[in-house]
Amino acid sequence: MTETLDLKITKAKNSKLPQVDFDNLPFGKTFSDHMLTADYEDGEWKNFEIVPYGNISLSPAISSIHYGQSFFEGLKAYRNDDGKITIFRPDKNAIRFNKSAERLCMPTLPEDIFVQCLAAVVDLDRDWVPSKENCTLYIRPFMFATDPFLGVTPSSTYKFMVILGPSGLYFSKNLRVKVETEYTRAAEGGFGYAKAAGNYGGAMLPLKKANEQGFDQIIWTDAKNHEYIEELGAANIAFVIDGKLITPSTRDTILNGVTRDSVLQLAKDFGMEVEERRVSIAEVLTAIENGTCTDAFGIGTAATLAQIAEIGYQGKDYILPNPTHSVFAAKMRKALDDIKYGRVEDVKGWNYIV
Ligand code: PLP
Ligand code: COI
Repeated sequence: MTETLDLKITKAKNSKLPQVDFDNLPFGKTFSDHMLTADYEDGEWKNFEIVPYGNISLSPAISSIHYGQSFFEGLKAYRNDDGKITIFRPDKNAIRFNKSAERLCMPTLPEDIFVQCLAAVVDLDRDWVPSKENCTLYIRPFMFATDPFLGVTPSSTYKFMVILGPSGLYFSKNLRVKVETEYTRAAEGGFGYAKAAGNYGGAMLPLKKANEQGFDQIIWTDAKNHEYIEELGAANIAFVIDGKLITPSTRDTILNGVTRDSVLQLAKDFGMEVEERRVSIAEVLTAIENGTCTDAFGIGTAATLAQIAEIGYQGKDYILPNPTHSVFAAKMRKALDDIKYGRVEDVKGWNYIV
């Protein structure tokens, strides 16, 4: 059943669009003219509103700040060659949004209302969807607890918001990454599979240390023995070994990525063998050394297909074949872009047309 979104719209008096340099768009620093907000109170969602983008006023005691009842999603809107604006697979993010909400003891949002909220604000700010290659309108939905109460207990009130930012690439070069064997992103029984704010806060110190050692990103490994590969920074990870696409199987320590799922489906369509299973560090490093690992990359909405050039493990560097020559990555990137930009028929129904 489709629920109807009752939405109030207050438009910005002046657009900031003329001030944006679309030729120099960093990721996540520019925001569009409008944002969507809604409140959860008395056991229901209300006050769905689009307002001019701006600061909001909150009590310093809200429990999201103190105890981390806060999570987000990330999607992108694309300007198709014929001018249509599409959002890539928002139904999948709606499902994951509610998985995160449940794990953090927060209220869910009907999936079609979630999608309608994104579509409404993107529609209003459709002129903000860039037309330049590698630039998209990044969509950031998020929810956080708003009870002004310092007791450690689930809040009874929450805010849901959607903000939009025209953005360039998250990674603009091939990556030198470090296999992390000291710190852990997520443990079994924890909430690694949720897009919880706390997962990202806890990752900052390890990433800062890795950056200081000359690495761009971290390969997260399992919390127990640091033996199996889990994710790459804020993205999933996959390898081409012996011509097969191999990726860690999802579990409660791994975010179930929408891009990951799309890449796996397309690889199968290419006729490629796909393995979702535990992937050990030893297996990958041996495959790099004997030349059977031809490709390694991060997969995510912001990351897209972020290629790995070099993996550092316990002081030794393992060099991948030149990622710039990767036939697989080029083919996959094109297949994904062809769908997202409406250049081929959307046989899987992945594009939501705004
Ligand atoms: N893993 C983590 C920890 C992430 O933050 C992301 C980014 O959203 C992903 C994986 C990739 O997920 P998706 O493809 O849905 O963006
Ligand atoms: C995304 O890919 O959408 C993400 O959420 C990654 C982000 C933390 C930059």
